[in-house]
Amino acid sequence: MILEVKNIHKQYRAGISNQLNVLKGVSLSFNSGEIISVVGQSGAGKSTLVHILGLLDRPSSGEIIFEGKDVTNLSDEQISKIRNLNIGFVFQFHHLLPEFTALENVMMPAMIARKIGKVEIEKAKEFLNEVGLDQRENHRPNELSGGEQQRVAVARSLMNSPKIIFADEPSGNLDAENAEKLHDLLFNLRKKYNQSFVIVTHNKELANRSDRIITLSNGMIV
Ligand SMILES: Nc1ncnc2c1ncn2[C@@H]1O[C@H](COP(=O)(O)OP(=O)(O)O)[C@@H](O)[C@H]1O
Ligand SMILES: [Mg+2]
Repeated sequence: MILEVKNIHKQYRAGISNQLNVLKGVSLSFNSGEIISVVGQSGAGKSTLVHILGLLDRPSSGEIIFEGKDVTNLSDEQISKIRNLNIGFVFQFHHLLPEFTALENVMMPAMIARKIGKVEIEKAKEFLNEVGLDQRENHRPNELSGGEQQRVAVARSLMNSPKIIFADEPSGNLDAENAEKLHDLLFNLRKKYNQSFVIVTHNKELANRSDRIITLSNGMIV
């Protein structure tokens, strides 16, 4: 098992005296090589859940176990280290850095980990090739289409060979054709690298293709 969360609650403060209970006791586990969809209405808490699962945010209460180790109470520094080495992200808006080329953007996680050498450059090129953009290495984000930008973001998410990738509405901003292409890509990557994905989506077709669907409603899994 890669990741397990137990009885996760998340409250946000709303004004001085009010509390917003966004997650109300969520327990989940994720295995290697799985593709899981997270669905639910807007405001259901999907992004909040994914941020907690991806160690970007902390729960108000509950436990998080990453590869058998309880990481709930680790320091921010320790958590960041685990996240940078093991977890990848793709967001709805690609968040590519505009002044860098596609290849440099893919290499960014390695740059952050201060690991850039021949091996990393070759790896980044392989991933760009994998997402069908080997001819776009030196393009900057504004010289790429929306679908291409998202595929660069997918290549980037693979860079540190993460145990699990969280994708929050990765095709939410794409037309039907590009969305399907992106979904096919995720399934191909699973096949080739046994890559695990947790994907927040409103796309029924994608949800139905996945191994498991997690439905969030009113802060709980139904
Ligand atoms: N940082 C925050 N502070 C306060 N409320 C928040 C914060 N982030 C999200 N919320 C609220 O939590 C609820 C769930 O948000 P979110 O997880 O983004 O839902 P979803 O991704 O399912 O649309 C929403 O009502 C939202 O307004
Ligand atoms: Mg969201």
